Amino acid sequence: MKNILVTGGAGFIGSNFINHILDERDDYNIINLDKLTYAGNLENLKSSEGNKNYHFVKGDITNHELVDYLFNQYNIKYVINFAAESHVDRSILGSEVFFQTNVIGTNVLLETSRRYDVEKFLQVSTDEVYGSLGETGLFTEKTSISPNSPYSSSKASADLLAMSFYETYGFPVLITRCSNNYGPLQFPEKLIPLMILNSLADKKLPVYGDGLNVRDWIYVIDHNKAIDLVFEKGRVGEVYNIGASQEMTNIEIIKLVLNILGKSEDLIEFVKDRPGHDRRYAIDSSKIQNELGWKPEYKFEEAIVKTVEWYKENKNWWERIISGAYQDYYKTQYGK
Ligand code: NAD
Ligand code: DAU
Repeated sequence: MKNILVTGGAGFIGSNFINHILDERDDYNIINLDKLTYAGNLENLKSSEGNKNYHFVKGDITNHELVDYLFNQYNIKYVINFAAESHVDRSILGSEVFFQTNVIGTNVLLETSRRYDVEKFLQVSTDEVYGSLGETGLFTEKTSISPNSPYSSSKASADLLAMSFYETYGFPVLITRCSNNYGPLQFPEKLIPLMILNSLADKKLPVYGDGLNVRDWIYVIDHNKAIDLVFEKGRVGEVYNIGASQEMTNIEIIKLVLNILGKSEDLIEFVKDRPGHDRRYAIDSSKIQNELGWKPEYKFEEAIVKTVEWYKENKNWWERIISGAYQDYYKTQYGK
């Protein structure tokens, strides 16, 4: 049995990971440490509740005493660090909490893991650490780090710190860098769920700039399967890019969502651009494909329809979210 500390497991990707992995494996004992920020939601983990191999602890990864206590109490030998402040626009409104959680929090986890002789530490990172691409080219693991937003700078800092533990102490770190995820349980501040919910409510769809920025989309289950594979078989001290080679402009995605829902393109509204808006992300995932045999299973055209259906069928889930503090954020970000 592997005692694994999974942090941020009540968020979008972490909860999909836990729900999926507990179905697939009976040799993982998961301790989920999550602060339950605005983005953390225990409802996401309903299907894992009651599983004898799953334990939830509400708490902050920056809390040394708590983290130390958990390593001791659960004999933690593995860590997968999903916990983060994850939204670029929020980081532009204020960077403090991003550095607290994403950098200081990762440092607390690394330091404690080292003291407890952890056997593997997987840092869940992002392609945004590479910065922005022009019209051609792909991010490889050798692309230099050049982040542009407070969010991506904090993630890049965490990556550098994690890798320094490998170089300095020989501590067994692995880093994954994935492109934009979509799928069930994603908080509606992010592009795809925001556009789905606004379309359903016949609200305007705010497109930043000219709508031609490109992202490389991956279904969340494909990302999580890749994380599990890197965790099991990846070489320590290595970075693995994860992406499904599904590049789309924002406006293409928005039109597709409107089309799936049978809504009018009149809902589209071009708004002020995001400051420092990265133009294009695109991932070269040949390393994980060739070395570990991973490949994405979900096609964008099919999985986006599944995703839209999920939001239509899970109104209770998102109604509770958008009725609370999210309204204040929406007003600050979009001015209405
Ligand atoms: P999310 O915002 O949906 O979830 C983050 C989770 O972390 C929440 O449950 C939150 O409560 C928890 N958390 C935040 N601060 C914490 C703290 N101080 N202590 C403990 N828990 C805390 O994020 P997500 O989209 O699921 O992203 C998960 C990870 O994957 C992040 O590290 C993110 O950088 C990375 N990532 C995300 C994407 C994407 O497209 N969403 C792509 C690549 C990488
Ligand atoms: O690439 C991986 C990253 O993808 C992750 O590390 C981040 O955690 C995740 O949030 C995501 O970052 P992005 O900034 O790419 O995602 P977001 O959904 O915020 O925006 C996607 C694109 O859509 C981006 O070009 C900005 C644009 N956009 C976004 C919103 C919220 C709009 O045009 N209008 C909007 O209202």
